[in-house]
Amino acid sequence: MFDLTGRTALVTGAGQNIGTGIARSLADAGARVLVNDVVPDRADEVAASLGGDAKPVPFDVTDREAVAAAIDAAGPVDVLVNNAGNGGTEAMLPGRFVDTVPDQWQGPLDVNLHGVLHCCHAVLPGMVERGHGRIITISSAAGTHGVGLGFAPYSVGKGGSLSLMRSLALEHGRDGITANSVALGIMDSVRAETARALAGTVPVGRLGSPDDVGPLCAYLASDEAAWITGQTIGLNGGSFTS
Ligand SMILES: NC(=O)c1ccc[n+]([C@@H]2O[C@H](COP(=O)([O-])OP(=O)(O)OC[C@H]3O[C@@H](n4cnc5c(N)ncnc54)[C@H](O)[C@@H]3O)[C@@H](O)[C@H]2O)c1
Repeated sequence: MFDLTGRTALVTGAGQNIGTGIARSLADAGARVLVNDVVPDRADEVAASLGGDAKPVPFDVTDREAVAAAIDAAGPVDVLVNNAGNGGTEAMLPGRFVDTVPDQWQGPLDVNLHGVLHCCHAVLPGMVERGHGRIITISSAAGTHGVGLGFAPYSVGKGGSLSLMRSLALEHGRDGITANSVALGIMDSVRAETARALAGTVPVGRLGSPDDVGPLCAYLASDEAAWITGQTIGLNGGSFTS
């Protein structure tokens, strides 16, 4: 079950935390993993740690031409996991939308939305030609439900990218391509004091870890998941029920 032998999987932002966990699960299931990160050393280290035929493919997902060139050079991609995402080039600074200035909106949209558009656009022609593909986008409860902590532009990026998955599912269902989103709740990579404060609010009693995310991605990447597409799966320890 969930045998990805013979598949090549590109995981963006796989140089640490959640992306590394996803890369490891896909490699464990037999996939050849292309480890992307904007920080080349991180991509190198993770690819080396995975061993086998894993390969670092550093590029910035916000740079459309770099994405197209790197994916062209990498060869066929069967599975794309859009994991790279954050608050943009600035740190994730909480603040009400009304108090932001427009210059603060671009960064979160660039990486969380345009980065996903770029990567999908680059892999889709090959997937269509081969009649098979799996696209998984790591979204957030910030995109499905919003969070009252003041990250509206990030929420917009996350919501936009999961909306793209729905459209791709409809446009490419007959091409053997599925497109789904995983909307994460609060993960253990937040700062230690925040983790301590928030863990008790999660119904299952702990924050999420990369080990919770990787196996779901391995399933969504598998042949067994051929009939699940256009979905947004909440992975959050019960924090956000739909
Ligand atoms: N940590 C959480 O609590 C949480 C909650 C919900 C959703 N998410 C989402 O999960 C994903 C992974 O989160 P994480 O906590 O592991 O993040 P992280 O910041 O720890 O790691 C992200 C990795 O992506 C790389 N990266 C950043 N910008 C990039 C770019 N433009 N091109 C290529 N690589 C880039 C970084 O160098 C880093 O190695 C993100 O999409 C994030 O929005 C995280």
